[in-house]
Amino acid sequence: MIDSIKIIQPDDWHVHFREGEMLSVITKYSSRVNKRCIAMPNTSTPITTSIEAVNYKKLIEDNSDNDNFEALIPCYLTDTLNIADFEYALQNNIFIGGKLYPNNATTNSQFGVNNIKEIYNIFEILEKYNKTLLIHGELNRSDIDIFDREKYFIDEELQQIRKSFKDLKIVLEHVSSDYGVDFVKTNNNIAGTITPHHMLLTKKDVFKDDVVNPHHYCMPVVKNENDLLSLRKAACFNNSKFFLGTDSAPHHVDYKKQNDSLKAGIFSSSNSIELYALIFEEENALENLEVFSSINGPKFYDMDVNKNYLTLNKEDRIIPEYIEEGNIKIKNFYANKNINWKASHLHV
Ligand code: DOR
Ligand code: ZN
Repeated sequence: MIDSIKIIQPDDWHVHFREGEMLSVITKYSSRVNKRCIAMPNTSTPITTSIEAVNYKKLIEDNSDNDNFEALIPCYLTDTLNIADFEYALQNNIFIGGKLYPNNATTNSQFGVNNIKEIYNIFEILEKYNKTLLIHGELNRSDIDIFDREKYFIDEELQQIRKSFKDLKIVLEHVSSDYGVDFVKTNNNIAGTITPHHMLLTKKDVFKDDVVNPHHYCMPVVKNENDLLSLRKAACFNNSKFFLGTDSAPHHVDYKKQNDSLKAGIFSSSNSIELYALIFEEENALENLEVFSSINGPKFYDMDVNKNYLTLNKEDRIIPEYIEEGNIKIKNFYANKNINWKASHLHV
């Protein structure tokens, strides 16, 4: 039995750090194991300008407990973006790329894009500077079933973007379906992030006995067994087009009560690399964890692979139900379940 593995230090290419007290409580969990994290820009006032990006990066890094930790910021794309400032920020590596939220697709996406065709000029700029378009790939329209939003987005928007901007690097974030996996595999210049929860849950874990489990409710919503298996295969079997992105998205437990204000999002950064290790071990693919967690991401983003290493040891423990600090109370993903790995320390 393998009881210890050493991997190149990972990066998390999709995390929500939030703001205020929430940010100060949760940042230590991502910086515990990761060297770099892409900090999603869907804060209550979205990050749309170079100044906001510089300030947000500093805020996160100042709250991390690791001096080498780096937050990378994509621009929240809107219908009314200041294009000159956007170009300036790309040229100066202030923005790592642009994040496309279709309007009302998820948390704080009310500032998102209404008509994607009308921001093709922004995609042209990203392509010109070899910067990445990160996409929340769901089409939210009243005639589309919630489980089909990814498929419709691919068919009605992504195909067209792919054809129009052949050199544009695209990341389909939190790929959630077999259909999405297939699109990423069969198209050029596109990669996908995969979350732990999309590889551990199916819709039966969300909608059980006519009751919605609010702690398993996220966007894109988790899907069928077939989708889960396809995501596991893509992550675990050495496909260079997929890499680690937890989409760890904390909400205070009060927003997770079943009422009108139910927020989508699952908080996993407190046990992120351990959850991935558990999945890779279940698939008999532990030897491929490092490629997924630490190599495919930087390669896609044209960045160096990290220099340090992280050791994970076999250690059985139960994930505590909540994180509670000051006014913050968040439910941990995989709460009260057994996890058999523990990241120990970073080393050279
Ligand atoms: O479940 C989600 N929560 N999906 C997203 O895309 C956003 C996130 C959040 O910010 O809460
Ligand atoms: Zn997200």
